Amino acid sequence: MTRKGILLAGGSGTRLYPATLSVSKQLLPLYDKPMIYYPLSVLMLAGIREIAVITTPNDAEQFRHLLGDGSQWGLQLDYIPQPSPDGLAQAYLLAEGWLGGAASAMILGDNIFFGQGLSQILGRASSSESGTVFGYQVREPKQYGVLGFDADGKVTSIVEKPANPASRFAVTGLYFLDGTAPERAHHVEPSERGELEITSLLESYLSDGQLSVERLGRGFAWLDTGTHDDLLDAANFVRALQARQGLQVGCPEEIAFQLGWIDSADLAMAAQRFDKNAYGRYLMTLLSGDNQMKYH
Ligand code: TTP
Repeated sequence: MTRKGILLAGGSGTRLYPATLSVSKQLLPLYDKPMIYYPLSVLMLAGIREIAVITTPNDAEQFRHLLGDGSQWGLQLDYIPQPSPDGLAQAYLLAEGWLGGAASAMILGDNIFFGQGLSQILGRASSSESGTVFGYQVREPKQYGVLGFDADGKVTSIVEKPANPASRFAVTGLYFLDGTAPERAHHVEPSERGELEITSLLESYLSDGQLSVERLGRGFAWLDTGTHDDLLDAANFVRALQARQGLQVGCPEEIAFQLGWIDSADLAMAAQRFDKNAYGRYLMTLLSGDNQMKYH
């Protein structure tokens, strides 16, 4: 069975109030495009074309308006509502029927990944039988799920928001799990804060010896956009890269074109739609072959 994708874009976004009082965090612009384009691009780079977008019931319509059925990018998008933000692991319960036993890759709608070789790392995770999570060194691990390692560098623990972190490696918001994830999620008990924690689900894989951790090195950027400062930092990061290289970060049209999921006519249509701005002009350069970067 082919691996399916889950794009988790619910949540309440309270740390971004009042900016997110009437609009989902994941629909806010991150520099020049909606935030959700970036994690969507990561799933696409992993070769995933069937994706469920999980949103609050209130925001579903706006997401549909933005992303549609995904056919413009050669994707098949479905929408699943999350009635209340009861935790990341709940996604697997909500998507259980949709997954139909398939393995999955879930990404958080407010996570940005960038770095050389990302496609290869994603490909490795996608073809692995066991679960894969990605560790990233952060200065302040306390606010994340934190990995503990033994002397050989093997992962021994994952603890959510620890007071005394075992390492500075946080678990990022991208999880490649096998078809047993929903069944395992049924056994997760709500935490003290009342959420079905992803760390509890990952612990189940870890205790069965079914979890690998890929460490993303210092050449990678993993950013989240939960606070106003995070959001601005991430936007400035994207702006700096794009302005310097003339290459887009998180451009679904480009990835779909490079992977052969859409053809030149589709790309031309998208380019025309945005012909008033730099995004549209960028798509034009892909068509004319002026832009030599290739994903594979
Ligand atoms: P968080 O940043 O933990 O929560 P939030 O987005 O609700 O924001 P705040 O803390 O400011 O209130 O969520 C991380 C990502 O996961 C984000 O993209 C939203 C998503 N999410 C869900 O879709 N459903 C959930 O139940 C939770 C907890 C988060």
